[in-house]
Amino acid sequence: MEGIKFNQIGVSFKGSGSYVPEQILTNQKISQKVDTSDEWIKSRTGISERRISSPEDNVTEMGYKAAQTAIEMANWDLKTIDLIVLATSTPHDLFGSAPSIQAKLGANNAVAFDLTAACSGFLFALITASQFLRGRSFKRAIVIGADQLSSFVDWNDRRSCILFGDGAGALAIEATSEYDNLLGFDMRTDGDRGSFLNLQSKNDKNSIIDNIDFLRGGFSSIQMNGQEVYKFAVREVPIILEKLFKKTNYSSDKVDWLVLHQANQRILDSVGDRLKIPREKILSNLEKYGNTSAATIPLMMDEAIKNNRIKQNDIIATSGFGAGLSWGAALIKWG
Ligand code: COA
Repeated sequence: MEGIKFNQIGVSFKGSGSYVPEQILTNQKISQKVDTSDEWIKSRTGISERRISSPEDNVTEMGYKAAQTAIEMANWDLKTIDLIVLATSTPHDLFGSAPSIQAKLGANNAVAFDLTAACSGFLFALITASQFLRGRSFKRAIVIGADQLSSFVDWNDRRSCILFGDGAGALAIEATSEYDNLLGFDMRTDGDRGSFLNLQSKNDKNSIIDNIDFLRGGFSSIQMNGQEVYKFAVREVPIILEKLFKKTNYSSDKVDWLVLHQANQRILDSVGDRLKIPREKILSNLEKYGNTSAATIPLMMDEAIKNNRIKQNDIIATSGFGAGLSWGAALIKWG
């Protein structure tokens, strides 16, 4: 589908929105809980603080608020929205949270569903929704990334608890026959390396009646091999972006903004260096929010759009990566 021509249907970007909970957990406060320090966390990750959901800030609520803002910016009648895709690994309802967001919005004509691909989730959802537009099934879609990893972090594990926070972001995308501003994309997974980062179910054995056992559902906390995940990210992200540039006849010097999944400032800088993209083009807000999983990319984009850094027709190279292992990239022209 790369290099789509104008008699076909393409994707245009119409709006963005985001939401973060009010509660702020600073590095200093984390150091009251585990043996760490503001200096250690900042120097190894670039993170200073993160947001933590209150009971009112579950994924449905955060995703709804982000979507609402994106719809306002797009100036859409709610009845014209055809599709809502929610990327999340932490749904408020395991059966799916997207339909609740649809109901809260009042987007009665839309079909809504969840998609899970951890920190690559937003990118995978954006690409999924775009294919429905390019395939002429739907015209208007809201793509949301929202996560509440604070509920699944082991707050006694200093190697991982310092990284994560909660939040949501959303983009409004529309089918058009005039151009295609999703210039290209790629997606990858490697389940063989899945043990480096996971959040597995914890099945407690219970009995229904004599001799018939069942496993009560639940989840353990995030397990992470930080060094392996780091090596994976700094190796695979430049490779997938370089391949994408080649496939789309773009090069890194034509990129206005590099919007990577906000995991660690050192990962962002290392990927930027490999691609020879200067630091001033690498967007970063992880200092304030940490890693909000599926939310980081639209949260970052929304901030940069609202403060006039990302402008109409800017070229954005974006990449999500994380558990699965999964990773993906997209080249976008904003507008
Ligand atoms: N505070 C203080 N010390 C800490 C610490 C913390 N929060 N976390 C780990 N340490 C200690 C370790 O115990 C270790 O001590 P030791 O040498 O005495 O054993 C030392 O710091 C170095 O640990 P290491 O794991 O090698 O640190 P690192 O430089 O790899 O940084 C991460 C750790 C987690 C910041 C880094 O590996 C990382 O960011 N990885 C990617 C993770 C990620 O992005 N995950 C999400 C992907 S979507």
